Amino acid sequence: LTAAPDAHAYVLRLQPCERALLQACRAVLSSDERERADRLRFETDRARYTIAHAYFRFVLAQHLGLTDPADVPLTSGANGEPLIASARAGALRCSLSHARDHVAVALAPTAVGIDVEEYREGTEIERIAQRYFAPEEAAELRALEPDAARERFVQLWTCKEAFIKAIGLGLAHPLDGFAVRGLGAGVPRYAGIPVEHGGDDAWTLATRSLGAGAHAAVAVRLPGARTAFIHTAWTAFAHAFPPN
Ligand SMILES: CC(C)(COP(=O)(O)OP(=O)(O)OC[C@H]1O[C@@H](n2cnc3c(N)ncnc32)[C@H](O)[C@@H]1OP(=O)(O)O)[C@@H](O)C(=O)NCCC(=O)NCCS
Repeated sequence: LTAAPDAHAYVLRLQPCERALLQACRAVLSSDERERADRLRFETDRARYTIAHAYFRFVLAQHLGLTDPADVPLTSGANGEPLIASARAGALRCSLSHARDHVAVALAPTAVGIDVEEYREGTEIERIAQRYFAPEEAAELRALEPDAARERFVQLWTCKEAFIKAIGLGLAHPLDGFAVRGLGAGVPRYAGIPVEHGGDDAWTLATRSLGAGAHAAVAVRLPGARTAFIHTAWTAFAHAFPPN
C-alpha cells in the first residue's frame, strides 16, 4: 500500500495547437489573464501563455471539485506568485511554470514551487553558473563532461527556481545564496536555506527528467514530502476544451 502523495506535479507537453482550442482556452481565463496574454508581443508567447493558464485552471478545477476551469478563483500576490482566493481551497497552494515545450503545475497543502526548463543550444553554462549559482554548483558543473554538464545545469536551474518560487519571492531571492546537492547520486536536497524560510530540513526537493534535455523540479516545504508526477496527455487536455 502506498501512502497518498503530499504534493502533485502535473506536466503537459505542448503540441501544435488549433485556433479553436486556443479560443476555448482563452474563454476560461480571467480578464486579467487575457490582458496579460494580449500584452505579449509574439503570437507564440500569447498562445503559450493562454494554454498554460487554461491548463493551470484545468488542474486546479479538478482538485477543487469545480466543473468549469473559469470558476477557479485565481489571483496573484505582491510578487506575481499565483494564489487561490477561496475558502474552498483551504490551505491549497499552487505554482506554475512554462517553457517552450512544457507547462508544469504543482499543488500542495504547504508552500510549493515548480519549475520546468529545456536546454537551449548555445547556453553559456559556465558563465551563467559562475554569475548566478553557488560556488560549489559552478565547480560541480566544471568537473562534468559537456553532455552531463548540460543536463546538470538544467537540473540545478530548475531546483533553484523551484525554491525561489515556493517562497514567493522569485528572483528577489539571490540564487547564489543556497545550493542544491545530491543531483549526481543520492537524494537531492537544499543547502543554505535561510532560517526565515525554515532552514534546509524544512524542504523536500523532487526532480524529474522529461527527456530531450528537459527537466522539472518541485520544492515542497514539508520534510519527507512525497511528490507525485502526473503527465497529462495532450488529447486529454484538448478534450476538456471543446470548441463552442
Ligand atoms: C518568477 C520567476 C522565478 C519566473 O521564472 P521563469 O523561469 O522565467 O518562468 P516560469 O514559467 O518558470 O514561471 C512563471 C510563473 O511563475 C509564477 N510567478 C511569478 N512570480 C512569482 C513569484 N514571485 N513567486 C512564485 N511564482 C511566481 C507565475 O505564475 C508565472 O506565470 P505567468 O507569468 O504565466 O503568470 C522569475 O522570472 C522572477 O522572479 N520574476 C520576477 C520579476 C523579475 O524579477 N523580473 C526581472 C527579470 S530580469
